[in-house]
Amino acid sequence: MTQRYCVFGHPVGHSKSPLIHAEFAHQTHQTIEYSAIEAPLDDFAGAWRRFVEGGGRGANVTVPFKQEAFALCDTLSHRALRAGAVNTLIVGGNGRTYGDNTDGMGLVRDLAYHRVAVKDARILVVGAGGAVRGLLEPLLNEAPAAVAVVNRTAAKAEALAADFSGLGLITGGGFETLAGSYDLVINGTSASLSGDLPPLPDDVFAKRAWAYDMMYSSEPTVFLQWAGPRGARLLDGLGMLVEQAAESFFLWRNVRPETSPVRDLLR
Ligand code: ATR
Repeated sequence: MTQRYCVFGHPVGHSKSPLIHAEFAHQTHQTIEYSAIEAPLDDFAGAWRRFVEGGGRGANVTVPFKQEAFALCDTLSHRALRAGAVNTLIVGGNGRTYGDNTDGMGLVRDLAYHRVAVKDARILVVGAGGAVRGLLEPLLNEAPAAVAVVNRTAAKAEALAADFSGLGLITGGGFETLAGSYDLVINGTSASLSGDLPPLPDDVFAKRAWAYDMMYSSEPTVFLQWAGPRGARLLDGLGMLVEQAAESFFLWRNVRPETSPVRDLLR
């Protein structure tokens, strides 16, 4: 029987995940079916249960269900526990649900793909929401020199820095605490969605620094439009999307697909 997978979201029509996983399956000679399912806002658990009853083996989870997915799991990976959110569901033995979070690792792998040095780098992370929470453990595991987290609501950045302080040198605060320049500036806010720019100083980029937006769109985000003329090299979140998908595919199928053909396809 064909093994079924899907992405749950609301809305989900725009999701690139079905295309990405179809390409991974083709490339690795796996026979799977992967669809996009718009789960009802008030019953994610029911949507997952029905999917499993219908033969579903695993799923990706996107906005706004990552916390609901976290809540329904029987077992959670370390990184999902740290993130407080699940983007990958797996049906395990006895029908138990295992949850993992591959988003942060996806970003770290995308940085590696583009040969962005993380080890010993000075990194600024802008934002302190769910996306950033999922990123910090994989990022700190790469041994950067220091990670500074800044956020509009300073208390949330301070809380994150306290939560992750055991994993490396990390500080948190409001934008007014920003000083010095960084080798890598990651925009993890959803400000791009509303066309807003986080209030960063003009000299935030060190020489040959990278600007990374966890969002992607067909046009460069306002953050990348701002960073380009200030000398930064630019990356958007499309590579992260492909890499987190590859990591999920690996968890389900135990084969690691090549990501470059899918990157080419999506560009
Ligand atoms: P996500 O799951 O995408 O991380 P989230 O948890 O709602 O979403 O977090 C959104 C992040 O973007 C937060 O850091 C938020 O700042 P606040 O904590 O102060 O709300 C940030 N953000 C959203 N819109 C912003 C804007 N216009 N300017 C600056 N920061 C913004």
